[in-house]
Amino acid sequence: MQQQTLFSGAQPTSGLHIGNYLGALRNWVALQYDYHALYTVVDLHALTSSATPQELTHNSRELVRNLLAIGIDPDTASIFIQSHIPEHAELAWIFNTLTPMAELERMTQYKDKSQRQSQNINVGLFDYPVLQAADILLYHGEIVPVGEDQLQHVELTRIIARKFNNKYGNYFPEPEAKITTAKRIMSLTDPAVKMSKSHGESNYIALNDTPDVIRKKIAKAVTDTGERTDTMSHGVENLFNLLTYTDATDAYESLHAAYQSGTLKYSELKAAVADSIIALLEPIQQRRQEISDDDITRALTQGYEHAQTLAQQTMQDVRQLVGFVPK
Ligand code: AQP
Repeated sequence: MQQQTLFSGAQPTSGLHIGNYLGALRNWVALQYDYHALYTVVDLHALTSSATPQELTHNSRELVRNLLAIGIDPDTASIFIQSHIPEHAELAWIFNTLTPMAELERMTQYKDKSQRQSQNINVGLFDYPVLQAADILLYHGEIVPVGEDQLQHVELTRIIARKFNNKYGNYFPEPEAKITTAKRIMSLTDPAVKMSKSHGESNYIALNDTPDVIRKKIAKAVTDTGERTDTMSHGVENLFNLLTYTDATDAYESLHAAYQSGTLKYSELKAAVADSIIALLEPIQQRRQEISDDDITRALTQGYEHAQTLAQQTMQDVRQLVGFVPK
């Protein structure tokens, strides 16, 4: 039986954090053997933030190093750079002409980012979900493993696929998001919002953080902001969740029992969370050391060749469907 196509991407805005890893990328690794999997470094998307050209190049290659380190197998899944395939932008333009402004105005990520980013609120930020729909549909992606923050964008992708199919004939699948139980890891400094690269280094644990840095960041994580009440605060809940997601079941059970009996010391909870994150990241950091620049180039060449063939085929069909005059 033919495997379903699974597609996802990550932005090379800076190093990955445990929110990206536990929320989505660990699932990329787990699912790669069950699907026809394509993973892309979405550098066109990253242009919507204010990285320098040098940072963008560096971050893009480092993201590939991290993908290899977490266990993406380039002989099984295709890893490629979005900008290497110009068809992404071409399909996005066609989708722009099908997407109602009102749909984009509803997008929470745009609303959040444009509120936070006082400068450089660019059209790309607004149009981001349309490019994302093109990313997925260019490869006829059916399954999209993402964190919860991306559900709205995947839903919009379904709407765009439907609009295209209604106008030009049934061509694109309507993809489905695949989320994990760790679908939303919260910020360490403001546990009311998700952990995010753009909220500053102290709000996240990077995959490359040293044990010392991890202990310091977790030690400063917000727990209770005021009086202790009957309901667990977002910060404490996030720390308990991190224990669960990093498979520290024994520590979770004993510390949770202490919480319920009112004897929990947050310093003990934080020490256990730091230990379990350090243990989770240690093998990844070790593998990372072993990945050479040649390994990155080889993975990208392999991934590009496969992705390019699929993208060119799709755009050949799409140009014909929308009525462009053949060359
Ligand atoms: N806090 C999170 N919890 C669970 N999943 C998360 N993801 C991101 N943050 C969390 C998921 O990680 C995947 C890759 O994300 P991305 O790099 O494409 O960009 P993002 O969602 O915009 O991540 P950030 O850290 O918030 O980056 P900035 O601040 O640069 O925008 C996605 O599947 C995402 O759902």
